[in-house]
Amino acid sequence: MKATATAPANIAFIKYWGRLNHDLFLPLTTTNSMNLSACTATTTIEFGAKTDSIVISDSEGNAKEIKNVAGEKDGMLFKTLDRIRERSGIKGGATVTSELSFPMGAGIASSAAGMAAFVAAGYAAAGNKKVTEDLEELSREIRLSGSVSAARSSHDGFTEHLFGMSNEDAYTVQIASEDHWDLVDLVAVLSPEEKKISSSLGHRLADSSPFMQARIEYLKDKPDLARKAILDKDFESLATLSEIDTINMHAVMMTSNPPAFYFAPASIDIIKAVTDWRESDGIPVFYTFDAGPNPHVITTSKSAPEVLKRLQAHPEVQFVLENIPAPGVRITDNE
Ligand code: PMV
Repeated sequence: MKATATAPANIAFIKYWGRLNHDLFLPLTTTNSMNLSACTATTTIEFGAKTDSIVISDSEGNAKEIKNVAGEKDGMLFKTLDRIRERSGIKGGATVTSELSFPMGAGIASSAAGMAAFVAAGYAAAGNKKVTEDLEELSREIRLSGSVSAARSSHDGFTEHLFGMSNEDAYTVQIASEDHWDLVDLVAVLSPEEKKISSSLGHRLADSSPFMQARIEYLKDKPDLARKAILDKDFESLATLSEIDTINMHAVMMTSNPPAFYFAPASIDIIKAVTDWRESDGIPVFYTFDAGPNPHVITTSKSAPEVLKRLQAHPEVQFVLENIPAPGVRITDNE
């Protein structure tokens, strides 16, 4: 009744923002991403306690007990424990400890790593092999815990969560393994600030932007084009697709009601710098952003030392996390 799982966060090339169905967390588009080696969560779950308790700690030694708040991602963790117990026919409170490999206050999307490891460890501890031995089913369960980005971490390397009109049809598949392409994602961490609009709320606000319909129209062929760029290792195409997609998504965010501004002044500064490094200095490099201010600067392993040096020289960059493509969820211990 005890298990440990590790999962990576990931960075999306074609992003998910807004949902077709908020109960089933169905995304409005197929969305693809690369798993990140330096941003992982390791979660242990044991059933048999009187009540549920969840504690998350990070690489700096900070620890936080999670409270059961309705409607938020934290609350979804408790709902997910109920779902795991119900689907697996078990009883007993869960004792959950989760360790992040990076600082939790740094504005790095921890939910993708955290939710994926949480769901895998939970079903493994509950002895539910129907879920743990079927990665597509595991990805559906991770999505149902509230995070599509987390569901992309079920498979190794480069993955995509498919658009579907039902729970059955929306699941993750692999595009290519982690050793397919030596990309590097340098996450430039700017000064941490608590998000004013969580991504859970942002997905609900997306429809209030007059540009959301235009984004859906624009997205039609983009997941296919990004998949092809990954398979062909076509850096230039992936760069163009990713940069346009991230700015398109942030335009929807900034025009929702109320608007959600995630960029900091330094984010814009780094957008301009990265464009200049590519266009003037010929470095293969592009930027992309989640729902936060920190630029993910993607380059090749050959150019990574130069790009890292340039990012570290920026006065607003606190530190840089260096990621290579990584495996997906692993159940590392199951008693
Ligand atoms: O899956 P969520 O609820 O963490 O939302 C992810 C939203 C973005 O990071 C902005 C985009 C993405 O596809 O990762």
